[in-house]
Amino acid sequence: MCTPLRLGIAGLGTVGVGVLRIVQRQAALLSARTGREITISAVSARSRDRDRGVRISDYAWEDDPVALARRDDVDVFVELMGGSDGPSKAATEAAIAAGKDVVTANKALLAMHGQALAEAAEAADVSIRYEAGVAGGIPCIKALGESLAGNEITRVMGVMNGTCNYILTRMQDAGLDYQTVFAECEELGYLEADPTLDVGGIDAGHKLALLVSLAFGTRVDYGALQIEGIEKITITDIEQASDMGYRIKLLGVAQKTGRGIDARMSPCLVPALSPLGQLEGPMNMIVFEGDSIGQVVLRGAGAGEGPTASAVLGDICDLARGHRQPIFGIPSSDLVPGERAARSAPAPYYMRMELADKPGALAKIATVLGDAGVSIDRMRQYGHESATAPVLIVTHKVQSDDLVRAVEAMESTGVLASAPVAIRIEEV
Ligand code: HSE
Repeated sequence: MCTPLRLGIAGLGTVGVGVLRIVQRQAALLSARTGREITISAVSARSRDRDRGVRISDYAWEDDPVALARRDDVDVFVELMGGSDGPSKAATEAAIAAGKDVVTANKALLAMHGQALAEAAEAADVSIRYEAGVAGGIPCIKALGESLAGNEITRVMGVMNGTCNYILTRMQDAGLDYQTVFAECEELGYLEADPTLDVGGIDAGHKLALLVSLAFGTRVDYGALQIEGIEKITITDIEQASDMGYRIKLLGVAQKTGRGIDARMSPCLVPALSPLGQLEGPMNMIVFEGDSIGQVVLRGAGAGEGPTASAVLGDICDLARGHRQPIFGIPSSDLVPGERAARSAPAPYYMRMELADKPGALAKIATVLGDAGVSIDRMRQYGHESATAPVLIVTHKVQSDDLVRAVEAMESTGVLASAPVAIRIEEV
């Protein structure tokens, strides 16, 4: 048997504790599978004394994660602190400079500094592995970077934030409004310390940025994504979308268009009976489409101790076996700047509006849509006792610019009781 692979683990929150538990519980299995013993030399966290329900007394303690990253008895620096800057960045850079491989769950760090870190790692001839950074336990980085390496990837889609999926499905199932379910999530501890990371689409956007780079050979560029959260989704949107056969999801979609990459993380409607439409609760789903494989759907837990630690251990085992591949699929010097598509690919849209209930109101809206080149596929007006009529329109495929023009023109018809809501329908 080879020499042990020695870990230094920075961050003993939910995921760090999960990694300790697997390394302690599955020592024999891990060494049988990799041909090497996997040991922990040292750990680091904010508080040494907190009771975490797992043994840490066997390991050296470092207050400073940078010192941990530089230790001579550490081969792999396991970064589980989180945060795009500060200690996680300093310690990751220190580990690379000291010639250590890095395993991280930190999508924010890689989404913001992925190119520079990949260049530094390649210059130092070390690896950065980040399976746990995207969709928790779902092995999507390995699937995309390795198993699908023979494909030209045509589209990447996914629900990548379990908290948002929980909120949207709970609203749907219980008929509750956004604020009530958000408060429930606070009680349950589902939200990040800064909840905007979840509900604002930022956390999911970080994950999509990494998939885009790996799928399309572009430099990681979070700034090139269009990001919109779920804060404005109402129970009325959910109920009326459902009535038309759809579910609302915070969906990441990335595809190459003729002119650049169209990559968005935003609320979308998907068919209720599609795999994405049926994804319930805090689960994640990643969909890849490739020229040879067609469509592949991966579903699983996107967060939590066991699933995320499972992904970390997968990366550690690969390093123990000596497996190496470029961090974003090809050498970092070959990654090209990802040109942002000038326009999104055309798509059908769902539109919801309240119209003054008087003769000719609907005709004015239909005229405005027609004038902007927007064709109506389906339409429904609900029974009502108020002076305004709830109207739903599903359009045929339309360029988003045309839809924006139509919505602007609607404002001047004088028949709208409030601003219309328009949500893209993703064909899946
Ligand atoms: N807060 C994330 C989620 C997990 O709800 O999916 C970590 O990215």
